[in-house]
Amino acid sequence: MSKKAILEIDGNKYEFPIIEGTEKELGIDIKTLRGATGGITTIDPGYKNTGSCESAITFLDGEKGILRYRGYSIEELAEKADFLEVAYLLIFGDLPTAEQLDKFDKDIKEESHIDEDMKRILDGFPKSAHPMGVLSSLTSALIAFNPGSVDVDSEEAMYGAIVKIMAKFPVLASWTMRKRKSLPLDYGDSSLGYVENLSKMMFSRPNKTYEANKIVNDALDKLLILHADHEQNCSTSTVRIVGSSHAGLFASLSAGISALWGPLHGGANQAVIEMLEAIREDGGDTAKYIAKAKDKEDPFRLMGFGHRVYKNFDPRAKIIKVAAEEVLGDLGIEDPVLDIAKGLAKVALEDEYFVKRKLYPNVDFYSGIIYRALGIPTEMFTVMFALGRLPGWIAQWREMRLRKEPIGRPRQIYTGETYRAFKSVSER
Ligand code: CMC
Repeated sequence: MSKKAILEIDGNKYEFPIIEGTEKELGIDIKTLRGATGGITTIDPGYKNTGSCESAITFLDGEKGILRYRGYSIEELAEKADFLEVAYLLIFGDLPTAEQLDKFDKDIKEESHIDEDMKRILDGFPKSAHPMGVLSSLTSALIAFNPGSVDVDSEEAMYGAIVKIMAKFPVLASWTMRKRKSLPLDYGDSSLGYVENLSKMMFSRPNKTYEANKIVNDALDKLLILHADHEQNCSTSTVRIVGSSHAGLFASLSAGISALWGPLHGGANQAVIEMLEAIREDGGDTAKYIAKAKDKEDPFRLMGFGHRVYKNFDPRAKIIKVAAEEVLGDLGIEDPVLDIAKGLAKVALEDEYFVKRKLYPNVDFYSGIIYRALGIPTEMFTVMFALGRLPGWIAQWREMRLRKEPIGRPRQIYTGETYRAFKSVSER
């Protein structure tokens, strides 16, 4: 028998079906709530208890520390797959065959040029501009160069738009870094793989022949895979909700980039390194900063700790911690900040405040240490996150449009003034 939930309000009983996901998650389906109860709504700030959609893309179990893309475990994908395969998997639902992957790769390469006029837009930004702001603006500007909305009922048109943004996004992302570093723009090299090409576009120097570094590229590949999707987080929900008004793919992505920028979301990776640096400059006293994080009068939070859904451990953080040690070892880098990070994690993991609130290191706690070792400037860290998250955002946008989801429009409980008669200025 199918499960149901019964809600009683003032003696009246209302019945709601309970839907069950493929991983046995249960959700009370309240679609009929307002109609049945005469306008009673739910209230759930931050949507901590609200499922905004049904989705077949990513499964995560915060208690058990499970993360799977389309059924495949993050551990296995990080170990065995490459980023382009994972992008295809997320967007189209299955791992690509050799032919599908080859076509995807070739189609992306075909679209990787950027209109020369886009450079004039980039020129208009001051060098000091944060790369995330520039990236969001450039992604939005792409619309002007690729006008016309995607016909979501046409598989071909949808594929065309997806390939276009997968191709142009890394070029734009690397340009934001080169602009800040006063380097000439690099257009990439179509003979290289997706991640290797990204690496070239970021790190090439005008006076040197670019030489691929396998350690750097493998680490980048892994980081991009680990960030590729994370179900209905802040930026992804933004992409879906903006897209639900039938705004185009690029416009929805640009909004997602802005949402990701915040320090409580993707911006945490930059904030973590800045915090670790500040602790180092302050003498490396981790206990002092643990105390600050616990002090309710102090706004300081331990960046890179805690997660809305992971309440046991973040499986991505586990993989990244090991990768950070490997990459630093392979590149022969000793970074005192890694020791501070490990020290903080050790103390926090045993401290009652953190244990009670189930606050564990998250994906961003160690990722910045790898980015630093790879020579990526701190303010580019969140751009790296965006590069990884791109296929996830695309997959979620595509799913939302194909399922013909209604426009996202939450309700509220009004707590302002009740009716007041207008008084002219002379009467106030
Ligand atoms: N340092 C100190 N205390 C914390 C922290 C932290 N990093 N995170 C949560 N808390 C406390 C918080 O003060 C609250 O305490 P109390 O119950 O006494 O009021 C309790 O833990 C629950 O916190 P919350 O803010 O209600 O939890 P949330 O689910 O709304 O927030 C979070 C999740 C990730 C925004 C939060 O843990 C945080 O701000 N962490 C630091 C920023 C960060 O690392 N963000 C990256 C998240 S992972 C990458 C991504 O997916 O975006």
